[in-house]
Amino acid sequence: MTDPNKRPDDMARINTPELAQAFIDEQIDLIKKQVGDKKVLLALSGGVDSSVVAALLIKAIGQNLVCVHVNHGLLRKGEPEMVCKVFRDELNANLIYVDATDRFLDLLAGVTDPEQKRHIIGEEFIKVFAEEAAKLEGISFLAQGTIYPDILESEQGIKAHHNVGGLPPELDFELVEPVKLLYKDEVRVVGKALGLPDNMVFRQPFPGPGLGVRCPGAITRDRLEAVRESDAILREEFEKAGLAGKVWQYFTVVPDFKSTGIKDGKRAFEWLCIVRAINTVDVVEVTVEPIDYELMCHITDRITHEVKGINRVLYDYTPKPTGTVEYE
Ligand code: XMP
Repeated sequence: MTDPNKRPDDMARINTPELAQAFIDEQIDLIKKQVGDKKVLLALSGGVDSSVVAALLIKAIGQNLVCVHVNHGLLRKGEPEMVCKVFRDELNANLIYVDATDRFLDLLAGVTDPEQKRHIIGEEFIKVFAEEAAKLEGISFLAQGTIYPDILESEQGIKAHHNVGGLPPELDFELVEPVKLLYKDEVRVVGKALGLPDNMVFRQPFPGPGLGVRCPGAITRDRLEAVRESDAILREEFEKAGLAGKVWQYFTVVPDFKSTGIKDGKRAFEWLCIVRAINTVDVVEVTVEPIDYELMCHITDRITHEVKGINRVLYDYTPKPTGTVEYE
């Protein structure tokens, strides 16, 4: 018997709209056959993989797909709004939006260890999702945005991917994983063919624990807000400068550290904001994007004047190794 988790050797790389359309048509048929008139549940993060899975399932089974978008309070500015706009308003998805910000931030209060933060965020996410699932009736399937690298990395023991096994018993549904044999570039081509917006299809990688790992030290609401606002300014300025989509990943970090400065002629003891912009092929080795001096001055000016609590901006010139991409 052929292994359903093995990509056939003769499977063509999906790199054209025509190949994407053929894949979409084939998957819609397969999903309809697998699911029939039963209901499917999906955790929709707004990332490329889960968004493509949602769009495929909406085409195949419409309102029988129930999407749950959990806002853990650590998302980037505008992200929950975009998920609701694209999926609820434009694609007419059956979408449940859960604002669990307080639950996550209360649990994270005072927690400084990065791995403990990740653990709390991961556990609570599954808890919130399972609670939503328990409120629903007649769910028979769980859809997941597993992609081929997740399967390969799990098999090689590199990481226990959350999409491959390890779900609690209350979420023990039969799986629907329509993009599990695709590589990331193929998922993007399919997403484009499904009509998803470019800022969703080509978005830069964003870690599951979100802005939580960009707020080193114990997360507080005000410093988290400073990360979110500075990140939004950086993204806006990179977009204007034509760097979005060219630079692999870029973001801001606001550590739990203050320095003396001057604002409005008065002493201002405030946080500093670190800008990180990197390029890579495989994230094992990373180089730093050489940002134009004028652009960096402009970004610094905006962040120090527009973001509450920040009086300095630093640019991180550290490659990986010795630095990792994220600070935690
Ligand atoms: P590092 O910091 O390990 O990051 O050099 C490599 C890539 O992985 C992302 N990253 C994560 N993604 N959960 C995720 O889903 C995490 O806990 C996590 N930590 C790092 C990081 O953004 C970069 O793209």
